[in-house]
Amino acid sequence: MLPILLLLLLLSHASAWIPGHDLEFVNVTSSVGESGKCVCHIYLPETTFPADRVQDLQQVSKDLTLEVEIQINKMINYQGIFEVYLKELVDLTLRVDILESSFDNFIKLDFELLRIELTEFELLVSRLKESFNSTSPIFHSLYTEISNMTLIVNQLETFDKSNLEVTRIELAKLQKKLEEIQKEQDFIKPDIGNCNHTGIMSISKPMVVHLNANLNAGFQYGGWGKDSKPTRGYESMYFYGAYTSPSVYDFYLYTDYKTLILRSSFKHYDIPRGWEGTGNNYIVHSNTIYYQHNSPFSMSKLNLTTSKYDYRVIPAASTAFSYSHSDNQNMDFSADENGLWVMYASEESKGKIVLAKIDEKSFGIENEWNTGAFKRTAVNAFMACGVMYATRSVSLNTEEIYYSFDTKTNEEKHLSVHFQKFQETYTNLHYNPSDQKLYMYNNGFYVSYNVRFNKE
Ligand SMILES: *[C@@H]1O[C@H](CO)[C@@H](O)[C@H](O)[C@H]1NC(C)=O
Ligand SMILES: *[C@@H]1O[C@H](CO)[C@@H](O)[C@H](O)[C@H]1NC(C)=O
Ligand SMILES: *[C@@H]1O[C@H](CO)[C@@H](O)[C@H](O)[C@H]1NC(C)=O
Ligand SMILES: *[C@@H]1O[C@H](CO)[C@@H](O)[C@H](O)[C@H]1NC(C)=O
Ligand SMILES: *[C@@H]1O[C@H](CO)[C@@H](O)[C@H](O)[C@H]1NC(C)=O
Repeated sequence: MLPILLLLLLLSHASAWIPGHDLEFVNVTSSVGESGKCVCHIYLPETTFPADRVQDLQQVSKDLTLEVEIQINKMINYQGIFEVYLKELVDLTLRVDILESSFDNFIKLDFELLRIELTEFELLVSRLKESFNSTSPIFHSLYTEISNMTLIVNQLETFDKSNLEVTRIELAKLQKKLEEIQKEQDFIKPDIGNCNHTGIMSISKPMVVHLNANLNAGFQYGGWGKDSKPTRGYESMYFYGAYTSPSVYDFYLYTDYKTLILRSSFKHYDIPRGWEGTGNNYIVHSNTIYYQHNSPFSMSKLNLTTSKYDYRVIPAASTAFSYSHSDNQNMDFSADENGLWVMYASEESKGKIVLAKIDEKSFGIENEWNTGAFKRTAVNAFMACGVMYATRSVSLNTEEIYYSFDTKTNEEKHLSVHFQKFQETYTNLHYNPSDQKLYMYNNGFYVSYNVRFNKE
């Protein structure tokens, strides 16, 4: 879609060129006509207007429009950058109108087409703007396209020696804007599932979605996020649950981001007596909620496909060790590229976090690692690419990933990856490998972060 802008720039550039081309390109012959008047024959060269190139560009913009249509459904968040583009487009539409009035018929046709495309584009952007609140991977491909367009426009340069500077400046402006978006988009990675990196390099600024579905900031204990291994048809689903105490007694499910925003759930689970949980370090994996069960103290799961509950006791796990912000956070569930995990502390580990890999089929522990992170020191922990990361508070609005443990190498590291918080405290922080984001339930607010890995 953006290339249409370039197309316009290119045509506005062409407008300056047509009237001014006479010296270089026009073949003029003259003769004396029957009436004795001088008759001039002007032959415009084949290259008068680069119609073939315009056609190419039109095809490209058509393809892109289609692509954007497809991508609309995939878009989740959006940063209002479209507003700027929209203004620019309105300006360009005006300019096209002016240019059109001064053009010959041949070019008028092309402009007519362009104008239709432009109107469609404008509509599309309006729709995007209204519906979504974040950036999208489409900018990646748009960025490539626009670079390519610049090349083409530069080639067209040869047709025009005047008025070129304006075109250039506008192009540069556009490109700069795209580069800004691109920088943000670096966080939206094309390599979901790829663990060929050396760990977390940085965490983006928090994206604050909004206040929880209970519309109550008093609901400080809770969690939200997406299924880390969604089953077919549930790829866009979100879950949420929150309470005024560390108890866990219900869950809400939303079909997609929009219904989450509208606080319109398609399913509400009231956990039956005897299955209540605590601690709020739950996640959804393979359409199943994993949470800490009160009694007996165990890991529990609610299969959302069958609505069946099940539990497994981890004999070593202790209720004596919680994260620093809240009580009862004894079992922290996490999922990453390698599968499902639970983190707890025990008397044997002397309060340090034990990392356990869960076998999904048997709902048993298949492997364990002893880390060097004290559970009571950490505010929370999560897994990403087989590495455990623990967080702690630096200040009211700054958090730090201060520790990591790699299950592949048994290597622990002390690190200092800072990131901003929206509110001081949070009960649920986990990574989701399906979009490489962190989800945080931040004192009643839904907050998410993009994770950037160190690819060296
Ligand atoms: C000018 O145009 C005429 C008619 O098409 C053609 O015969 C002639 O070769 C052209 N001259 C040049 C220099 O292009
Ligand atoms: C979009 O985000 C802005 C701030 O980033 C916020 O004011 C607005 O309410 C959000 N819109 C929706 C629909 O979430
Ligand atoms: C850039 O343009 C060239 C020539 O038109 C084309 O072959 C190539 O596929 C384009 N690249 C992209 C990424 O669109
Ligand atoms: C991992 O990344 C490095 C550097 O980016 C590259 O040289 C290597 O081939 C990659 N390995 C795999 C298995 O993709
Ligand atoms: C949930 O139930 C479905 C249907 O019986 C089953 O296929 C799936 O494996 C179950 N998931 C878990 C994690 O137990």
